[in-house]
Amino acid sequence: MFIQRSGWWAAATLSLLFSASNAQTIIVDGEIISVDEAIVAPAADTSSDASHFSFESIQLTDDVLANLTDIQLSNVSLFYFDDDAASEKRSVGSQCKTMPGDLLYPSRSVWKILDILSGGALIQTVPLGSACYDGEHYDEAKCQFLINNWNKSDTHVDDPSSVMSPLFEGATCEPQGASLGKNCTLGGFPSYSLNITNVAQIQLAINFARNSNLRLVVRNTGHDFLGKNTGEGALSIWTHNLNDIEVISDYKSAGGRYKGPAFKLGAGVVVHELYEAAEREGYTAVAGECRTVGVAGGYSVGGGHSPVTPIHGLGSDQILSVDIVTPDGRFITADETQNTDLFWALRGGGPATWGVVTSITVKVHEKTVFSGMTWVTTTTAMNITDDTFWEAIAAYWRRYPEFSAAKSYGYCRMSGLEGGGYAWRGLPFMVPGMKLADFKVLVQPLLDDWAALGVDPKVEFFEHDSLYQAWTRHFPTSVVGNAYARTGSRLLPRKNWEDPELLNKTIQTIRSIVDDGAFLVHYNINADEPENTAESSVNPAWREVMMFNIIGLIWNAATPESEVAALHEKLTNDLVQRLKDISPGAGGYLNEGDVMDPEFAQSFYGSNYKRLSQIKKKIDPKNVFWAPTAVGSENGYITGQEDYVTKQTGRLCYKN
Ligand SMILES: Cc1cc2nc3c(=O)[nH]c(=O)nc-3n(C[C@H](O)[C@H](O)[C@H](O)COP(=O)(O)OP(=O)(O)OC[C@H]3O[C@@H](n4cnc5c(N)ncnc54)[C@H](O)[C@@H]3O)c2cc1C
Ligand SMILES: *[C@@H]1O[C@H](CO)[C@@H](O)[C@H](O)[C@H]1NC(C)=O
Ligand SMILES: *[C@@H]1O[C@H](CO)[C@@H](O)[C@H](O)[C@H]1NC(C)=O
Ligand SMILES: *[C@@H]1O[C@H](CO)[C@@H](O)[C@H](O)[C@H]1NC(C)=O
Ligand SMILES: *[C@@H]1O[C@H](CO)[C@@H](O)[C@H](O)[C@H]1NC(C)=O
Ligand SMILES: *[C@@H]1O[C@H](CO)[C@@H](O)[C@H](O)[C@H]1NC(C)=O
Ligand SMILES: *[C@@H]1O[C@H](CO)[C@@H](O)[C@H](O)[C@H]1NC(C)=O
Ligand SMILES: *[C@@H]1O[C@H](CO)[C@@H](O)[C@H](O)[C@H]1NC(C)=O
Repeated sequence: MFIQRSGWWAAATLSLLFSASNAQTIIVDGEIISVDEAIVAPAADTSSDASHFSFESIQLTDDVLANLTDIQLSNVSLFYFDDDAASEKRSVGSQCKTMPGDLLYPSRSVWKILDILSGGALIQTVPLGSACYDGEHYDEAKCQFLINNWNKSDTHVDDPSSVMSPLFEGATCEPQGASLGKNCTLGGFPSYSLNITNVAQIQLAINFARNSNLRLVVRNTGHDFLGKNTGEGALSIWTHNLNDIEVISDYKSAGGRYKGPAFKLGAGVVVHELYEAAEREGYTAVAGECRTVGVAGGYSVGGGHSPVTPIHGLGSDQILSVDIVTPDGRFITADETQNTDLFWALRGGGPATWGVVTSITVKVHEKTVFSGMTWVTTTTAMNITDDTFWEAIAAYWRRYPEFSAAKSYGYCRMSGLEGGGYAWRGLPFMVPGMKLADFKVLVQPLLDDWAALGVDPKVEFFEHDSLYQAWTRHFPTSVVGNAYARTGSRLLPRKNWEDPELLNKTIQTIRSIVDDGAFLVHYNINADEPENTAESSVNPAWREVMMFNIIGLIWNAATPESEVAALHEKLTNDLVQRLKDISPGAGGYLNEGDVMDPEFAQSFYGSNYKRLSQIKKKIDPKNVFWAPTAVGSENGYITGQEDYVTKQTGRLCYKN
C-alpha cells in the first residue's frame, strides 16, 4: 500500500499542544495546579496504526481521565465518558439545554479547565462583523473589507463561528447593519468554539456538553442552508482545520467489497483541496460545486450531488469507512464489518446527528475527459418574448431523458427580471467521460429546436482532460451571506417524464413558481446507485431523480415584517407544495431543503426514516446532538420562534 501523508503539520500540533501548557502552574477555583505533558489530557497516543491520521491518534482515554482525577484537578468528572457509572447522576434531567446566565451554566473557571485540557483551543465567540461596530473589536479597514466581500464564501470559512445563511443566527452583527443603527449581539451564534486539531478535543467537548447539559453544535465551513451549524449559547466543535488528505492507491475495504484507489479525508477538507489533490494524483474525486464546501461531515454524510454523480453516484456512495466520535465520547470506526448500523446511517442520513466525523475514506475514480457547453443570457439579449423563452426551456427539459441516458449533468439558474423577462444561465451543461465531438452530436437536436424557435443563447463549447479543468473554468462563483432569503428543493422523478400530460403539467408548474417570484436552480442529474455499493440510508428519491430543483424567495432589509412572514409561508405552503403536488412520494435534498418542511422526515429521508430514528435513539439517547430537520429533531424545538421560520436564536428544549 502506497501512503502519502500530506498533513505533516498534524504531527507538529502535538508539540504545540505541549508547549502551550509546558511546566506551568495554573490557578483554577483558587487551586494551584502544575500542568505538564503528563497531565494534559490530549497527551495519550494510543493507536498510531496506519489507518488513522496523526491527529486521530491523540485521544482521550480512561487512563488520561484517571490521571486527572489523581491530581485532583477540580471538575474532572465533567469530562468523563458516558459509560461510567456516575454519569447518570451528573446528567441534568432538564427538558431544556442550559444557557449562559442560568444557575447551572458552567462558570468561567470551568470553561478555563476545558481550555487547558484542550491545549488552549477554546475561543470565545466574537462575531466576524463586530469589526464594524463601536467597541474593542472596531477595525475600519477590516470592516470595509467585510462589507465588500460579505457575499463571498471565502470571507466566512476561516472564521470559527460565521455562517453563510445569516437568517438563522438572527442576522445579528452584520457589517452592513452598523450604519443602519443595529447592534452587534451574539444572537444565534454559539458562545464558545473549540478549535479542533485532534480527536481528544472533540471527546472532551462532547463529554463536557453532555455532562453539563449544554447545547452542542458542529461547524466546519459555515455553508449550511438550514441553520444546522449554529445555536444560541452553544459550544461549537469547529472542525475546519482537520484538512489532511491521504492518498491510498490500492485500498481494500473492510469486508473486501471494494479494491481500488481511495482518499482518506480529514473532516475539514474542502472541495478545492480535494479536487486539487485528485488532479495531482491522477484521479476524479466526487464532490460538489462551491470551492469551499466541506466534503466529509456535511456534504458526503448528507448525500452530496456532484458533476460526476451521473457516472459515479452520490457523495455518500463513495464512503468506505468513517472515523467518528459518538455522543458517548468514544472514538470509533464504522464500516462494512464494524458498527454497521451507524455506517448505514452515515451514508446519507445527514450531518450533525450521529457524532462528529473526524475523517472519511472515499472511493476515487479514473481521471476522465469532460465536454459541455455554457450560456449566460436574458430574454432581452436574445430578443425573444417570455412565451418563446419558455418554449426554449421546455425544449431542453423535454430532452432530459436522452441527456440523462448519456450521463449528463446540466446545471442552470433562472429568475425573472425586475423590468420583465428572464435571466438564464447554463453553467455548465456537461457530460463526464464524453469527447466534444460526441457531445455536439448529443445536443444538436436541442440546438435545432432552439434555432427553429429563433432562440440563440450563444452557447460556448468546451472540452477538458479532467473534472478539475472543467470545474475551475466553467462553474459560477457562489453568492452567500444574504439574510433575506429562503430556499426549498424537490427531486422530480423520471416518472414525470413518462406521461406526456404529467410532463406538460410539470413544466407549467415550474413556470408558475418562477412567475410568482422565485429563482430556480435546475439540475438535469441522475443519481443511480453505483454497482457493488453497500446498502445506505440516502434518500431513495435520489435514485429516481431526473430533475433536481432548488427554488428560493429573496426579499430585502426594507421589506415589512408582515410581508416577510407571508414570503416564508408562501415558500413552504405554496411554492414547495406545488412541486410536491406534481411528485407525490418523491423527496427533497436535506442539505438544500426547506427547513420548515412540515413532512421533513418523508421529504428528506423517505422510507429510511424509521430505521434512522431507531439508530439515533440508540446512539444518542441523551440528545447530545440536535439540528433542525435532522433525524430525531421532531423531539426538540427552539424557544421563542415564529411559526413560519425556525432560527437558532433561542433555547433548545425537548418535548419529552
Ligand atoms: C454555495 C454552496 C454550494 C453548494 N453546492 C453543493 C453541491 O454542489 N452539491 C451538494 O450536494 N451540496 C452543495 N451545497 C450544500 C452543502 O453540501 C451542505 O451545505 C453541506 O452540509 C456543507 O457542509 P460544510 O461542512 O461545508 O458546512 P457547515 O455549515 O460547516 O456544516 C454543514 C452541516 O454539517 C455538519 N457538520 C459539519 N462537519 C461535521 C462533522 N465533522 N461531523 C458531523 N457533522 C458535521 C454541521 O453541523 C452542519 O449541520 C452547497 C452549499 C452552498 C452554500
Ligand atoms: C498518567 O500519569 C503517569 C504519571 O505521571 C504517566 O506516567 C502516564 O503516562 C500517564 N498516563 C497517561 C495516559 O497520560
Ligand atoms: C467545580 O469544582 C468546584 C471546586 O471543587 C466546585 O465548587 C464546583 O461545584 C464544580 N463545578 C461543577 C459544575 O462541577
Ligand atoms: C457582492 O457584494 C458586493 C459589495 O456589496 C457587490 O458589489 C457585488 O455586486 C455583490 N455580488 C453579487 C454577485 O451579488
Ligand atoms: C442597541 O442597543 C442600545 C443600548 O443597549 C439600545 O438602546 C438600542 O435600542 C439598541 N438598538 C437596536 C436597534 O436594537
Ligand atoms: C486554530 O488552530 C490552528 C492550528 O493550531 C491555528 O493555526 C489557528 O490560528 C487557530 N485559529 C483560531 C481562530 O484560533
Ligand atoms: C427583435 O425582434 C423583433 C421582432 O421579431 C424585430 O422586429 C427587431 O428588429 C428585433 N431587434 C433586434 C435588435 O434584433
Ligand atoms: C403538451 O404540450 C405540448 C406543447 O404545448 C402540446 O403540443 C401537447 O399536445 C401537450 N400534450 C398533452 C398530452 O397535453
